[in-house]
Amino acid sequence: MPEEKIRQAQRPHGFWGRVFGKLMDFGNAKAHAFAVKRLEVRPDDRILEIGFGTGRVVKKAAKYAREGFIAGIDPSELMLERASKRSRRLIRKGRVELKLGDVSDLPWPDAHFDKVVALHSFQFWNDPQHDIAQVRRVLKPNGLLLLVLRQRRRPPNWLPNPISRSRQEIAGTLQLLTEAGFRETRIEGKAGSSAVITARKPA
Ligand SMILES: C[S@@+](CC[C@H](N)C(=O)[O-])C[C@H]1O[C@@H](n2cnc3c(N)ncnc32)[C@H](O)[C@@H]1O
Repeated sequence: MPEEKIRQAQRPHGFWGRVFGKLMDFGNAKAHAFAVKRLEVRPDDRILEIGFGTGRVVKKAAKYAREGFIAGIDPSELMLERASKRSRRLIRKGRVELKLGDVSDLPWPDAHFDKVVALHSFQFWNDPQHDIAQVRRVLKPNGLLLLVLRQRRRPPNWLPNPISRSRQEIAGTLQLLTEAGFRETRIEGKAGSSAVITARKPA
């Protein structure tokens, strides 16, 4: 497959972006279900998804957060359009808010979320030290971070995140989280072909 089509994962756009969105919905279903289960969504939870893609996790989580709020950020206009369409009723009711943007500059106040989830988007973070500090900033004390990492035997060398390019992604991510001041940093196991890591912001 030409590299341009593979790179759709980083910022889905145009015709191939639509195709890629459908492939993600189908291929990531196990990881989506695992992530929502592991988030243990409470009715009043405020949750942020970084890199929401077509918005399946946002919509599933919103089902449980009946009095809470699910937010999402993604740099792809196409994904914003798809995910907004999927959750249009929840957006109208104010239970979901989706924004165009990047993990490097999260447009929410400090300590705004109980939980943050990033599913197959960590590999696209340009500056993981800076970006994880943004995530920590918007989490409430004791807030949960759930990272679902796309596992590959040979990570492509165009991935922007140096930790994901390194072939030591899990060890590098655990170290990043510890250095950023997270606690209870652990590998939760596998969801399909993805590795799941959780950590908490100190209370
Ligand atoms: C492989 S898709 C995964 C989408 C969704 N989480 C899922 O599992 O179906 C990666 C998503 O991350 C988004 N993304 C890429 N770079 C990002 C960044 N720097 N900050 C936030 N999201 C990003 C892409 O636009 C894309 O929608």
